[in-house]
Amino acid sequence: MSHSFRRLGESDLPLLLGWESLCFSGEEWTEKMIQTHLEFHVAFGLGDPEIKSYALICETPWEIEIFRIATLPNYRKLGLAKNLLMALFQEFPKKEFFLEVKESNYGAVTLYQSVGFIELERRKKYYPDGSTAVLMKRNPSE
Ligand SMILES: CC(C)(COP(=O)(O)OP(=O)(O)OC[C@H]1O[C@@H](n2cnc3c(N)ncnc32)[C@H](O)[C@@H]1OP(=O)(O)O)[C@@H](O)C(=O)NCCC(=O)NCCS
Repeated sequence: MSHSFRRLGESDLPLLLGWESLCFSGEEWTEKMIQTHLEFHVAFGLGDPEIKSYALICETPWEIEIFRIATLPNYRKLGLAKNLLMALFQEFPKKEFFLEVKESNYGAVTLYQSVGFIELERRKKYYPDGSTAVLMKRNPSE
């Protein structure tokens, strides 16, 4: 099934807040953090008709950093996050992609590997809970 891919804006703030609490329970971004993100950076969503998977990213002239990606709990393991990442690679074909992910987040690490991210390094005690970060990179599609 094909899903629509669209850029999210200020009007999606209430939706993003709800998605954050569903997807990152205990680690969700606050309204202020999301608002600031939308002011200075970008967000994209995938789903038809409602968004089911979303990503908050930072674009610079050279690269894209993925800050967050999530799929609503009832729609996981259906290929949505993978499709969203593929849509982002198409949107920014000339850019390198970077991200950091908790070493313990096996599902996310496997997802990133499945679309061509490779591990650059690990940073111990990187997160406030003391866990290790895996830094990953994907080369431009073009
Ligand atoms: C990680 C997350 C975004 C994956 O979203 P999803 O839409 O379920 O992922 P997909 O269905 O596109 O999965 C694509 C591939 O990723 C891997 N994968 C995804 N979730 C996985 C899991 N829980 N365990 C193992 N592999 C997983 C698999 O290789 C999968 O392919 P397969 O189904 O053919 O085996 C989702 O579980 C989520 O929102 N988690 C909470 C938020 C989070 O941790 N985000 C990442 C850090 S910011």
